[in-house]
Amino acid sequence: MGTNQNPKETHKNSFGPSSAKAYLDPHYWDERFSNEEHYEWFKDYSHFRHLIQAHIKPNSSVLELGCGNSQLSEELYKDGITKITCIDLSAVAVEKMQKRLALKGYNEIKVLEADMLDLPFSNECFDVVIEKGTMDVLFVDSGDPWNPRPETVNKVMAMLEDAHRVLKPDGIFISISFGQPHFRRPLFDSPKFTWSVEWNTFGDAFHYFFYVLKKGRRSLDGKVSSERVQPPSISLLHEELESEDYIFRTNIDEMNS
Ligand SMILES: C[S@@+](CC[C@H](N)C(=O)[O-])C[C@H]1O[C@@H](n2cnc3c(N)ncnc32)[C@H](O)[C@@H]1O
Repeated sequence: MGTNQNPKETHKNSFGPSSAKAYLDPHYWDERFSNEEHYEWFKDYSHFRHLIQAHIKPNSSVLELGCGNSQLSEELYKDGITKITCIDLSAVAVEKMQKRLALKGYNEIKVLEADMLDLPFSNECFDVVIEKGTMDVLFVDSGDPWNPRPETVNKVMAMLEDAHRVLKPDGIFISISFGQPHFRRPLFDSPKFTWSVEWNTFGDAFHYFFYVLKKGRRSLDGKVSSERVQPPSISLLHEELESEDYIFRTNIDEMNS
């Protein structure tokens, strides 16, 4: 669940929009980040550190998509992973993140304003691309989750294609998501990609998904190599979700409809 460390804020959801579609509006994020110092979507690093550690080495070059005001990059840095580039579409998020990291002395972490659907990087330059909750934003107006609107699919595919493009031949894409495998796999498994698809779960009563897509590892016989590392177990406890941002309630409603 998200955590907010703005001392002035007394209610976790005071930055949540009235409609989930606002998450697609860059102005919403600029306004939110102008007032909010830290909000950790889903869970913080401590909950999935063990999963990250299995895939990121200290010398890995890492690109984080949609960093917002998360502490993920600094937690990775503290764990010895120093070659980090963060991007976000929000100029406000980028400026505040740059200042925060500079104050803490994490000057090696680069933070750039960029669109994850059109990444300003050359081909095959990162070992790891990671996103937490950023792809899920693209799904907020997807309509039927079993049959998302073509506009949603096009945006998600643009994101995935660019992540795939900037990954080194043996790079990995890590997606930390609310979305269950039966909604995400049809996109991850597109024949455009050479990656294999595995996932794990983390969280307490409500489980989040930790997808690991390994470039160049799809089986050569053309079959999709997809491995469920651990059976996803979903138990939807409303009290678990009450303090979460609106995006989650929207998805839960869709899953239950
Ligand atoms: C749900 S928040 C997740 C923030 C952060 N990853 C976390 O775990 O707390 C989504 C973030 O994605 C950013 N974002 C939305 N669309 C984007 C895009 N097309 N390119 C880059 N960032 C984007 C938003 O500005 C916001 O910071």
